[in-house]
Amino acid sequence: MRSLILLCLSFFSPEGECDLLRDSVHVTSAAARPNNELWCYKCLADVPDDRCADLRHNNSALIHKCHNDRRMCMVKRFSFTTSTENSTTPPKMWALERNCTKHCEPGCIVIGERTKLYACTSCCTTSLCNYGSGAEQRIFDIFLIAATAMILSL
Ligand SMILES: *[C@@H]1O[C@H](CO)[C@@H](O)[C@H](O)[C@H]1NC(C)=O
Ligand SMILES: *[C@@H]1O[C@H](CO)[C@@H](O)[C@H](O)[C@H]1NC(C)=O
Ligand SMILES: *[C@@H]1O[C@H](CO)[C@@H](O)[C@H](O)[C@H]1NC(C)=O
Repeated sequence: MRSLILLCLSFFSPEGECDLLRDSVHVTSAAARPNNELWCYKCLADVPDDRCADLRHNNSALIHKCHNDRRMCMVKRFSFTTSTENSTTPPKMWALERNCTKHCEPGCIVIGERTKLYACTSCCTTSLCNYGSGAEQRIFDIFLIAATAMILSL
């Protein structure tokens, strides 16, 4: 297990994607627990340098207990790109939400042509796991790497 996490850290530490990996290992035990002991970051950012968007600083005020059947933490990131005929701007964030949630579907919804709006959600199930930027969407790659790492460590 330790080598698995180290491997993950060496690949993904800047984006905080390791939690997806850790979560995939602990999903079963979390689902089997009757009491909801989950804590998530809960906040809404509407400017990129908001403390909700950047959780590196003291963020204890944003920590909330999840209740009832809201047993997942999520990050939802809203961003947009604009295109001319030859180029597309890098995605620009305009809002970010962190919360406890009951239903969570990871992935992005994209609308628009020249100006594209993105609403991207990432989900996780361990306490305070929703600290990422919400920009990482390579979940299936991560699972693949986890599987490879497990096989290699046998
Ligand atoms: C978190 O979710 C609850 C229940 O869905 C909602 O009422 C609340 O507004 C959300 N909080 C934020 C910061 O988005
Ligand atoms: C972080 O903020 C909380 C209140 O928001 C405060 O009680 C705590 O002492 C702060 N911790 C640090 C290390 O500054
Ligand atoms: C886009 O590229 C074409 C061909 O390279 C060029 O003729 C045109 O001026 C460019 N358009 C813009 C808006 O830069």
